[in-house]
Amino acid sequence: MSDKKRILSGIQPSGAMTIGNYLGALKNWVELQKTDEYECYYMLADLHTITVRQEAKDIRKNAMDLLALFIASGIDPEKSPIFFQSHVPAHVQLSWVLNCNTYMGELSRMTQYKDKSRKHADNINAGLFTYPVLMAADILLYQADLVPVGQDQKQHLEITRDIAQRFNNTYSETFKVPEAYIPKVGARVMSLQNPAQKMSKSDTNENGYILMLDSPDAVMRKIKRAVTDSGSEVKRGEGKEGIENLMSIYGAVTGKTMEEIENEFDGKGYGVFKPAVAEAVIEALRPIQEKYNDLMSNKDYLEKIYRSGAEIANLTARKTISKVYRKVGFIQP
Ligand code: TRP
Repeated sequence: MSDKKRILSGIQPSGAMTIGNYLGALKNWVELQKTDEYECYYMLADLHTITVRQEAKDIRKNAMDLLALFIASGIDPEKSPIFFQSHVPAHVQLSWVLNCNTYMGELSRMTQYKDKSRKHADNINAGLFTYPVLMAADILLYQADLVPVGQDQKQHLEITRDIAQRFNNTYSETFKVPEAYIPKVGARVMSLQNPAQKMSKSDTNENGYILMLDSPDAVMRKIKRAVTDSGSEVKRGEGKEGIENLMSIYGAVTGKTMEEIENEFDGKGYGVFKPAVAEAVIEALRPIQEKYNDLMSNKDYLEKIYRSGAEIANLTARKTISKVYRKVGFIQP
């Protein structure tokens, strides 16, 4: 086994990906992979998607789309296994054992559960409640050292650590206790219509978000309509959250710092700045969209990728689950 630190991360294929998903997560995964310092596992968390009711055909479409977008964004499947969570039975097996080692009380404190049960009041199912336990299983199965997550998933990582420590104390050392990995330059992309809110595809106003697969025209239109202040200076500051959000998007795609951006657009105004941001985003998305289109017309290749990803993931995950079953006292089959 390699002595590299191990990373596991996942995204739910629950709808079209925004540039927030790309700049906040995928792009960092690609960077992490490039450093060669880590052994990375990248998972498509399809089991998690059914906590909210969806059409089977949408689940299938979103899952293949996201797989293609992973690769199109630059994740190299030769280096890191990319797999569907549902292809590795140990996720469900471990999540049962962990369910029996997690308290109702700690799960009731999860803010995502509270949010989602408010949003989907007609379907507050047990899976929505135990969602964090399945996520803990995802992570602990791979003995991951680091888990790149956004701010909204930090609480789930905390509970994962608690569950791991509790299990280790009860049954002896079994799981690596993982750390959250907050990337140094993780762009937190906000809504173009309301810069106080995270950019999200569930926004009711489609001008609030840019999808990874949006056409150049759509990108230009949405950025031109982005909410700004009544001033004209491309600068950070009080009341300039809209412009600051566009600056950080521009920075994330061009690699420029905020100072460099302020200098570049000194005295130029929003009429020059906004189209420049749009052009930069369009250029960043162009190769990804081209690669995506190629991949979607090559389903055999995609199938090969997720199969071989699952094979590797299964090997690692099986080791952990058999250890766990032995420790809790199940007779070896
Ligand atoms: N819950 C995560 C999200 O919605 C997705 C996820 C599932 C995940 N399992 C994971 C992320 C394991 C990191 C590690 O974003």
